[in-house]
Amino acid sequence: MLKEFSKSILCIGAGYVGGPTMAMIAAKCPQYKITVVDIDRDRIHRWNSDSLPIFEPGLDKLIETARGRNLFFSTEIDVGIRDADIIFVAVNTPTKTFGQGAEKAADLQYLEKTSRQILAHSTSDKIIVEKSTVPVRTSNAMERILNGGKNNVRFDVLSNPEFLAEGTAIKDLENPDRVLIGSRETENGIKARKEIVDIYANWVPKEKILESNTWSAELSKLTANAFLAQRISSINAISALCEKTEADINEVAAAVGMDSRIGSKFLNASVGFGGSCFKKDILNLVYICQNYDLHEVADYWESVVKINEWQEKRFVRNMLSSMFNTIAGKKIVILGFAFKADTGDTRESPAMYIVRGLLEEHAQVVVCDPKALGNARNDLKDVPGDLLAFEEDPYEATEGAHAIAILTEWEEYKNLDYERLLSSMVHPSFVFDGRNILDHQRLFEMGFNVYSIGRSPLKHFR
Ligand code: UDX
Repeated sequence: MLKEFSKSILCIGAGYVGGPTMAMIAAKCPQYKITVVDIDRDRIHRWNSDSLPIFEPGLDKLIETARGRNLFFSTEIDVGIRDADIIFVAVNTPTKTFGQGAEKAADLQYLEKTSRQILAHSTSDKIIVEKSTVPVRTSNAMERILNGGKNNVRFDVLSNPEFLAEGTAIKDLENPDRVLIGSRETENGIKARKEIVDIYANWVPKEKILESNTWSAELSKLTANAFLAQRISSINAISALCEKTEADINEVAAAVGMDSRIGSKFLNASVGFGGSCFKKDILNLVYICQNYDLHEVADYWESVVKINEWQEKRFVRNMLSSMFNTIAGKKIVILGFAFKADTGDTRESPAMYIVRGLLEEHAQVVVCDPKALGNARNDLKDVPGDLLAFEEDPYEATEGAHAIAILTEWEEYKNLDYERLLSSMVHPSFVFDGRNILDHQRLFEMGFNVYSIGRSPLKHFR
């Protein structure tokens, strides 16, 4: 370790979690040397350039502050392991696509490979911190691999789940609701935990740093995401009932959210939740419960994912039925492909399922998004070019269109000149607001037929 730094920290995995988290630690703690490594050369090259591999408000400034000072990006994983005192593991743990637990269990092969690599190149004691979301008791497996070696090196394996949300990652890291650090409750475990607490204590108030046993920390992460997703499925389930009964989901959500026990956040009815975490983590929880023969618990949580899929399908069905049961050959503009605003990420985006649903009905789809078109092109690369187009400019996209569907709540889509859009569209013209972000009454008065989530449609025909 270089003398001028008091600690050498390595992070394996330069993705959405590893990159921003390490950038924050580096910016707040100039006394530590932080190295982020990844097998993906191109990704590391981008972290070292002006075109960062992920878009996250405020990230570029953090990187500018710390890169080259005490923050380094590299592909030299083995050297990084050898030199580190503390290793954060932030590799991806996607859902398994094969064998036992396919489509539910986490695929832990990257985590296991990483553990073996750490073992192979370590020549001094290390603290290993799991950052990736993992099934409960994964750290047990890591410990077994690591401490099964013959090189007389001690490894303490801790869990420090990441709760940041994309789009607000830097804010969440700077001012987290809590930081959770779990370890074994042995003398060494508690000592290692203290070292990680000390890192965060550089900028996080002590009362927000929670300590627990390892398994509680691992399970808390899955549970937090399951609860958040459950709120969305709950409000979305009620949105369907609102559409049948003339109740208004915004009014219901406002009334329900004012109960301080419930709270008003995360109650926006939508076309569905997306993102890399919710579905994966819930299915993971479902799989664990099934393994412990807790089938009722598994079914309970699985229904959160089922309602979400139903909400996406329902949206396509509503578009089809409101456009006179045929959308074949009709041009439909999708405004927003990212799974939420302020990110270019499209993983598990409801937009993907909706676009595919529309294509199955032979619609002509044009996808617009200010940040996610690159990912959208990649996600839909199997679709023939004559059925699907990509366009950054909503005004260009909408020329001759029958319908607009808002699928991401981008601020700029709230402020488009809808009169202008309407004037270039085929009539009757439709807006499907999958995020309830527009002024529906105004659009209706302008001449649009307006369909939203959880509110009665406003239409100019019976
Ligand atoms: C989530 C968790 O918030 C975070 O703590 C965890 O670490 C990772 O997973 P993220 O996937 O970045 O973060 O997105 P989040 O802001 O939670 O939104 C998830 C999805 O739910 C998005 O598609 C969003 O549009 C949708 N959503 C959110 C709603 O439909 N309605 C809401 O009220 C809130």
